[in-house]
Amino acid sequence: MFEVRERDGLARIGVLETRHGRVRTPALLPVVNPNRPIIPPRELAERFRAEILITNAYILGQGELREKVLHEGVRTFLDFPGAVMTDSGAFQSHVYGDVRVTNAEVIEFQRAIGSDLGTMLDPFSEPEHDHARALADVEETVRRAAEADRIKGDLALVGAVQGGLHEDLRERCAREVSSLGIAIAAIGGVVPLLESYRFADLARVILASKRGLDPSKPVHLFGAGHPIVFPLAALLGCDLFDSASYAKYARDGRMMFPDGTRRAADLVDAGCACPACASHGIEGVARDERLLAEHNLRVCFAAIGEVRRAIAAGELWELVERRARAHPALLDALRELRRHTDVLEEAEPLSRRGALEYVGPETAHRPILARYRRRLLERHSPPPAKGLLVLPEGDRPYSDRRAAIVERALRVADVHVVVKSLWGPVPLELDHVWPLSQSLIPERADLEALEAAEVFFREWAAGAGYPFGLLWEGPGSLEELARRAPDPRAVDWNALRVRATADLQFGRGAADALLAGDVRLVVSKNTGKVRNVVVDGEHVLSLRAEDGYFTLKAAGARRLRATFPAPRLRIVVDPDAVPFHREGKNVMAKFVRDADPGIRPGDEAIVVDPSDEVCAVAQAAMNRREMLAFRRGVAARVREGVPPPTSAPPR
Ligand code: GUN
Ligand code: ZN
Repeated sequence: MFEVRERDGLARIGVLETRHGRVRTPALLPVVNPNRPIIPPRELAERFRAEILITNAYILGQGELREKVLHEGVRTFLDFPGAVMTDSGAFQSHVYGDVRVTNAEVIEFQRAIGSDLGTMLDPFSEPEHDHARALADVEETVRRAAEADRIKGDLALVGAVQGGLHEDLRERCAREVSSLGIAIAAIGGVVPLLESYRFADLARVILASKRGLDPSKPVHLFGAGHPIVFPLAALLGCDLFDSASYAKYARDGRMMFPDGTRRAADLVDAGCACPACASHGIEGVARDERLLAEHNLRVCFAAIGEVRRAIAAGELWELVERRARAHPALLDALRELRRHTDVLEEAEPLSRRGALEYVGPETAHRPILARYRRRLLERHSPPPAKGLLVLPEGDRPYSDRRAAIVERALRVADVHVVVKSLWGPVPLELDHVWPLSQSLIPERADLEALEAAEVFFREWAAGAGYPFGLLWEGPGSLEELARRAPDPRAVDWNALRVRATADLQFGRGAADALLAGDVRLVVSKNTGKVRNVVVDGEHVLSLRAEDGYFTLKAAGARRLRATFPAPRLRIVVDPDAVPFHREGKNVMAKFVRDADPGIRPGDEAIVVDPSDEVCAVAQAAMNRREMLAFRRGVAARVREGVPPPTSAPPR
């Protein structure tokens, strides 16, 4: 069983239960070569705190080791107290060509030696295989996965995803294999990509696989053992990694670092605080294979720890963008992600704590910002005016920092005000919404970022329909504004903000639905900002100071439900669960029958029974795909239970 505790991008911090203990993910599984364990497994557990390792069942099953392992069991044989995953020999078929066992034999053997996680024998698709050949591999992989599922007994099964570089085949293989009784889905056939630094291809392969994979299952990335790829692979949804590299590189006298690999003999200092480097110095480490392996493994574990820290802090995108500067091929991979905004965006929460920091021109293409721009185009109605005043990017929040300019302009001109920000156009009434007001950007932006801002702006301005737009170039612009859009303009900013935010958050038309009637805005005495929205005496919305979005109240939920047809904004729950939600209990994923495909983690949602009766208002913790896949965990946190309609006969 796999339970997710924290998430960021497609990454998760989770707990995987095995027969021999819990494994916290993302996790690194050191590869133990049974013929040559450079660091003994007991030390891996005790000194490195490894919770799980991986070894090769194919190697264990050949020759003289076989009887001993069968007799003792793999954990006793290795002397490892944690969980043991075994691989099947697919990789040997990639390296040596031929493997003399069958899928059924390997599964049987892994069962017999007591593996905690055992891998099917998958045909290794090479990246250069054409579509027809990769298709044959996928069909064979699915056939063997089904066979392994039938004979696995109590073995927790690792199912493989093959398909070479063909995205359709990866997705199909992932879908078919993860619908079987597997504990882990493992993306295979990527070692050649890793070895030749083809990280953009790696990203495409992982994302294509993720499209088909059951999101409730942990994902292993076979053979990814270099810390340079951990942040990227984790961001794309890989939970488990295995590394033989720490030992292989040590044998070649090479040291691993989070930003690459260096020859130990070339270094005057490793710049490393690991125990091996700290006690032996570079001179000691450089001439000792065992110490090199220790250093490499420490660096790998530390890199996994860094990824975990970033996920918990919601900073994994930042880490990936920063680390992309470690190698041009990683930068290519980062740029490749723009082509996959659809899958990546589904996982992005509505907002986060803290600021969004500019790392480079790629930052503006993050899925959360692509979502903002799309929602702006689709949901926001630009208010009527004779023209547009365009303010350049600058200090935030714009409406406070530019208040004096805006006031002077509106005294003489009937214009709407928008900021041409690096993230895309920001109509002034939306500048409080996360991350538009909580962003850190450099004063001197790069050309690529400015050009992108221009493109984003033009796309929006073309649809906004204002007769003209004028860039503010200082007080000298006032005269032209007054000439082209004569008439002063009076704006009730609070009212405009409430309308614009409601449409952006819930969809075009939400403001009309929520605000129909006699509207009273409750404004904070301290900040002058809107706190609550009361319509016809009913509290429909509260505006959150942290992220500038609304918390939906029951009265608001009823209005939205009456306006937007199902499944919009809905989470449909099992009738058995309804009484619990009415009392305020959370929505557990296993009771979700369906949900709006547009719901994202952090969105406000209306919890309804199958006849579309409102039973609660909640904040989603998952998207639809996840709600339907997970059997464990909270799908949505109920904010407010809604009692049954009073017209129902009393019981
Ligand atoms: N180790 C490295 N690549 C692979 C793969 O594609 N399949 C399996 N089973 N193990 C691997
Ligand atoms: Zn070190």
